[in-house]
Amino acid sequence: MTPSSIVILTGAGISAESGVDTFRDKDGIWSKIDYRDVATPEGFARDPAQVHDFYNQRRRGMTGVTPNPAHAALAELERRYDGDFLLVTQNIDDLHERAGSRKLIHMHGELARALCANCGNRQEWNGDLSVELACPSCNSPGFMRPDVVWFGEMPYHMERIYEALGNCDLFVAIGTSGTVYPAAGFNEEARMAGAHTVELNLEATEGSYRFAETQHGKASEIVPAFVERVLGRG
Ligand code: NAD
Ligand code: APR
Repeated sequence: MTPSSIVILTGAGISAESGVDTFRDKDGIWSKIDYRDVATPEGFARDPAQVHDFYNQRRRGMTGVTPNPAHAALAELERRYDGDFLLVTQNIDDLHERAGSRKLIHMHGELARALCANCGNRQEWNGDLSVELACPSCNSPGFMRPDVVWFGEMPYHMERIYEALGNCDLFVAIGTSGTVYPAAGFNEEARMAGAHTVELNLEATEGSYRFAETQHGKASEIVPAFVERVLGRG
């Protein structure tokens, strides 16, 4: 039976095979640097240069990184599926867009955008950020930061996400460890709305038990196969 409304949540694992580091795998980002120093407002207030260096390195690291078959399969699902469709990503990379996804929400913000903590101006930003940089909008130096949601901050577009979760009949979580809220609670929201919930991940997670169906394997292999099944071709 083809679902009438699909919500998909992706995490760092969908970009792993494109060469983008995950956070909590072996040798993950948070095994090399304390998230409190670079992914919290307190860390930014304490040492903004360290935060800029962390995100500048990640932004530069995206050079030459390309979408993998999992990103491509989700873009194809969006194109070929007639029902309501929303892709919510926790990732701050632009691999979903580059694969062709359009009905997309970056709930944790985007590496390729900058935010002024003084005037709130947001804009595309592909170069380095620094403490000395003056905001192009209010001309105040020292307030430019990556437009990324940090621990303790509210994610973007939550109302639209919860509205979609409350009306979907298929929810799929891909490549996320299910440890950070509110994203980790999305499957419960969908389940309460009567949705079939599916986890596609390299291995079991602390949240696997919360899903009606779990599939383990590499995203670049299991996501295209799952999309074929949803489109009624597999
Ligand atoms: P949380 O409680 O949702 O998540 C804390 C997470 O941090 C834990 O689940 C754990 O996985 C991780 N953690 C804890 N100690 C750690 C350590 N020493 N090293 C690495 N990871 C560690 O976080 P919160 O403070 O309640 O904030 C939640 C809000 O922050 C949500 O709105 C969420 O969307 C946002 N957020 C954004 C980012 C980001 O980097 N963009 C990261 C996490 C949370
Ligand atoms: N295919 C499928 N899944 C994979 C692959 C792969 N090739 N490689 C890794 N994974 C899985 C891991 O098993 C793990 O469960 O991806 C998940 C990655 O989990 P995390 O590193 O915790 O990343 P994520 O869930 O996106 O983290 C959530 O925490 O620090 C914050 O802002 C950060 O948005 C991030 C949030």
